[in-house]
Amino acid sequence: MTIAQQRRRCLLAAVAVLALAGCATPGHDLPLQPEGASALVEKPGWATRTFAVAAANPLATDAGLQILRAGGSAVDAAVAVQMVLTLVEPQSSGIGGGAFLLHFDGHRTQAFDGRETAPAGASPTLFLQADGKPIAMADAISGGRSVGVPGTVRMLALAHQTHGRLPWARLFAPAIRLATEGFAVSPRMATLLASEQDLQKDPVAAAYFLDARGNPWPQGHVLRNPELAAVLQRMAHEGPDALMTGDVARAIARTVQHHPAHPGTLSLQDLADYQPLLREPLCFDYAAVREYRLCGMPPPSSGMLAIGQILGLMSHTPAATLALQDGVPSADWLHLYTEASRLAFADRAHYVADPAFTKAPGGDWQSLLAPRYLAERAKRIDASPSGQSTRNPPAGNPGSLPLAYGPSPEQPEYGTSHISVIDAYGNALAMTTTIEAAFGSRLMVNRGVGLAGGFLLNNEMTDFSLSPTSADGKPVANRIEPGKRPRSSMSPTLVFDKASGQLVMTGGSPGGALIIHFTAKTLYGVLIWGLNAQQAINLPNFGTLGGPILLEKQRFDPATVKALQARGHSVVETPMPSGLQVIQRTPNGYFGGADPRREGIVLGD
Ligand code: GLY
Repeated sequence: MTIAQQRRRCLLAAVAVLALAGCATPGHDLPLQPEGASALVEKPGWATRTFAVAAANPLATDAGLQILRAGGSAVDAAVAVQMVLTLVEPQSSGIGGGAFLLHFDGHRTQAFDGRETAPAGASPTLFLQADGKPIAMADAISGGRSVGVPGTVRMLALAHQTHGRLPWARLFAPAIRLATEGFAVSPRMATLLASEQDLQKDPVAAAYFLDARGNPWPQGHVLRNPELAAVLQRMAHEGPDALMTGDVARAIARTVQHHPAHPGTLSLQDLADYQPLLREPLCFDYAAVREYRLCGMPPPSSGMLAIGQILGLMSHTPAATLALQDGVPSADWLHLYTEASRLAFADRAHYVADPAFTKAPGGDWQSLLAPRYLAERAKRIDASPSGQSTRNPPAGNPGSLPLAYGPSPEQPEYGTSHISVIDAYGNALAMTTTIEAAFGSRLMVNRGVGLAGGFLLNNEMTDFSLSPTSADGKPVANRIEPGKRPRSSMSPTLVFDKASGQLVMTGGSPGGALIIHFTAKTLYGVLIWGLNAQQAINLPNFGTLGGPILLEKQRFDPATVKALQARGHSVVETPMPSGLQVIQRTPNGYFGGADPRREGIVLGD
């Protein structure tokens, strides 16, 4: 099926276009929301036989399809998809950001870490005002000081060295063509541009994203980005050094250091020194209808640890006996899920940070997933029929630590995009990629050679705790330190059948800290409730970051809300725009699902 046919099919299948005006201003009325909501478009789910690629924008998915059809590997496709996403979904990810990539080559799973690092000049007090209190998150995001050293491109190059099949340069062709010839601004990009206040303060970004009168480009406007085309052309032929050294690097450092209000320290040395890491994946066993093995990123991501804790804690409750009610999780199930999440988020706030700077409790992150530890922790969940919420449980004690940390306060986390690919050779990958807030730091890099456009820089430094100490004066594990990687919630996930070792599915989502819940929901839907990938993605979203239960607006019965309140939960109904992309193995090939809340599609042969 061609991309045009796919698009028509999705649009014809549209069941509802929710004009969520007022909910699309990230960080203002709903501070815990990641990117704003846009349209809700029903997706059919896609069956393929040989390979499949799922990404957040049809043009990006199509770039992956072109590469897979040309004999490319999963990593080849991911490179092409990421370059196109930089252009067509600039609000979420790009070459100015960071990423995690989980790769399975049929035998072995590897975890590639392209997370941004704090510049050498960054200090724990970066975001503190004169009275020692942290500045408002909205003020921290925009400008040069929030920019971490970008890691996505060097990480992709590292993965390509081992797992690429097509020449590196070939993978840039779709993005260079689209940047040169232009692409139509998507409905979601137009919605987010329309609610954006800070891009206009950066002259380069304003000239690219706004018309001569200062109005954001509408949906369908054909946007060309000749500066990005030139940078991509250079990267295609010279590799990541074309970004991390030379005149592009000089433009990055200049943009950060010369920001008029909030300059940062990111330097040419920081860019030249950046190294992606190859880590052991974080894997654990999970008994559902069958025995599974789930793998994800270890710290600095908190994602897979939290998901593993939530699923593991729920195994000690009657949750698995509670079926969906009218296709929606019941209040009883939501109570158990939320209580498990509160415990997981308490540990996350206390312990999880870059392992190069922060020791795991008991010397091993697996201590947080140990069956005995989770069995003990689960005793805090009141699983009786009218069980009450524990509210604010403290972190557990899974093992000794040389330093007593204090919990980091929950902060909003933003943007991000997810890519899933399975190729014709049996390789599978899950890659979650981010520039943090919608449109990142709102700084656009341009070398000043007379070409319009460029690429956006991340604001990943705000994924660190803005305050280096907790309320009781103890150091926060996720405080800023030079060279450190900020804690993430990104949860690229691979699921295997434990007995055979065969891949079951690859998936993940954007959504800040809510990524953990979006991904956990989808895993539970497929592995416990027996849904297919699309049905599981379609389930209403829910979750907690330790405070109220968040329920996706207009998806839950008022009786569910009342029942939760009767158990002592405070409930907030709000848009929860996940962007899940999942591909599962089937007896005939693959079946992919893409989130109706964003623009992603799945393509393949
Ligand atoms: N910036 C989103 C995350 O890393 O979780």
